Amino acid sequence: MKIQSVKGTRDFYPPLMAVRNFIADGWKEASRRNGFEEYDGPIFEYLKMYQVKSGDEIVEQLFNFTDRGQRHLAIRPEITPTLARMVNQQINALPRPIKWFSVPRLCRAERPQKGRLREFFQWNIDIIGVDDVLADAEVIYTSIDYLRSLGLTSRDIKAKISSRKLLAGFLINLGIPEGQLDTIYPILDKKTKLPEAVFDEMLAKVISHKRTAAAIKEFMEFKDLSNISDYLLEVIRNSDEGTEAEEELERLLDLLETMGVGDYCVFDPGIVRGLAYYTGVVFEIHDAVGDLRAVCGGGRYDNLLKDFGGPAVSGTGMGMGDCVLEILLREKGLLKDGQIATLQIDNFVAYTDMELQKDAISIAAKLREKGEATDISYKSGSLKKQLKQASNAGAKKCIILSKEFIEDKKLIVKDMGTGEQELINADTF
Ligand code: HAM
Repeated sequence: MKIQSVKGTRDFYPPLMAVRNFIADGWKEASRRNGFEEYDGPIFEYLKMYQVKSGDEIVEQLFNFTDRGQRHLAIRPEITPTLARMVNQQINALPRPIKWFSVPRLCRAERPQKGRLREFFQWNIDIIGVDDVLADAEVIYTSIDYLRSLGLTSRDIKAKISSRKLLAGFLINLGIPEGQLDTIYPILDKKTKLPEAVFDEMLAKVISHKRTAAAIKEFMEFKDLSNISDYLLEVIRNSDEGTEAEEELERLLDLLETMGVGDYCVFDPGIVRGLAYYTGVVFEIHDAVGDLRAVCGGGRYDNLLKDFGGPAVSGTGMGMGDCVLEILLREKGLLKDGQIATLQIDNFVAYTDMELQKDAISIAAKLREKGEATDISYKSGSLKKQLKQASNAGAKKCIILSKEFIEDKKLIVKDMGTGEQELINADTF
C-alpha cells in the first residue's frame, strides 16, 4: 500500500529544511535584536480555548478531536490564546513589560492554496502590559526590521496600519449596535480578499441600509486621514473612541517615522483583521503589488487576558507565516534554490586503501572530539569520488590518507576552496 502525504502538509527534505531554518533563524535573531525572550506551549489545547475569543473563522478551521478521557482538544491554529493562558497563570511573578517571541508549528484546516497550507510555521512577537502605542510601534518595527534584513525594501512591502477602535467608533456612529460589531469585522476583513460583488452581498446580509454599507466601503478605501471627507471625519470624531484612535494612529505613524521605517508604513482603514480579539491598532504587511496574501498580521488585544479569566492587562503582537514569506523572497530573487547549504563541514577524511580505514576512522574521531565538524568516507574506492563527496558536504578541507601515510605517516590536507595541498605529520592530530 502506497501512503501519500496529507494534503496541505510539507515534507522537509534537506534543501527545504535549510530554507525553513534560514527563515526561523532570522526570526529568532530579529526577536533577540529587539529584546524579545523565547517561549513555547503545547501543540494541543482544550478546544474551548479557541472558542472563547478567536472568532468563527478559526474555529471552523480547527483540527479537533476527543481523547480517551473524553476531553475535547484541538491542535493549535495560533499561539496567542496559549500565550494569554500562560501569562495569566504567572501574571504576578512575571516582570513587565512581557516581551516574548515564539516560532510554533500551527495547523488550520484551510483549503490549501498559494501561501496557505494546513500546517505551517509562524513567528509570533507579543508585548504584554504596555498600554502606550509605543508597544504597537515596537511590534511593527520588529516585523519590518526582520523583513528589511532580508533585503526587502519599502518598494517591495508595505505595513498597512489601521485601528479597530477607529472602525468601532465609525460604525457605532453610523448607528450600528455595538453588539453587532464582532459579526461585522470578519466580513469587512474579506473586502480585499473577495470579488467586489461577493463582498457586497455578504455585507448586505448584515447591513441592509444601502447608504450605510456605501459609507463603510468609502471609509475602508481612504488612504490618508487628512484626506478623508468631512462627513466621514465628522462620523469618526463624533465619538471618544474615534478621536482617541485618530490621535493614537497619528502618534504611531510618527513613532515609526522616528524609528526610521516610516517609508514602509501607510494608514489603510481597509485593514480590519479576521480574529475577534483585536481592540486597537491593527496592521498587516503586504507585498507592494498586492498579489499575495498578507506576509504577517497583528494588532492590539486589550481584553484577551481578561476574557481568559485573568486581570485586565493589555497586549499587542503579530504573527508571520513562513509560506507567503518564502514565495515573496523567491519572487524578489532574494532566495534561490541551492543558495542555502544543507550541510557545511570542516573536514572530510578520505583514504585510498581499505588497510588505511582504521587510521582514517581514528583521525576523524580525534577531529570530532576537538569539536570540528567532520565526516568520513565509508569506502576506500576512487579518490575522485571521495573528493566529490567532500565537496558535496561543503567540506573546507579534505584530509587524505594515501601512500604517504603508509610510507612515513604523512597526511595530505587539501584546501577545498583553493585546491592547494600540503603534507603534514599524522601525529599533529
Ligand atoms: P493570522 O492573521 O491568523 O494572525 O495569521 C498571521 C499570519 O500567519 C498570516 O499573515 C500568514 O502569514 C500566516 N498564516 C495564517 N494562516 C496560514 C496558513 N493556513 N498557511 C500559511 N500561513 C498562514 C494570527 O495568527 C494572530 N494570532 C497573530 C497575532 C499574534 N496577533 C497578535 N499576536
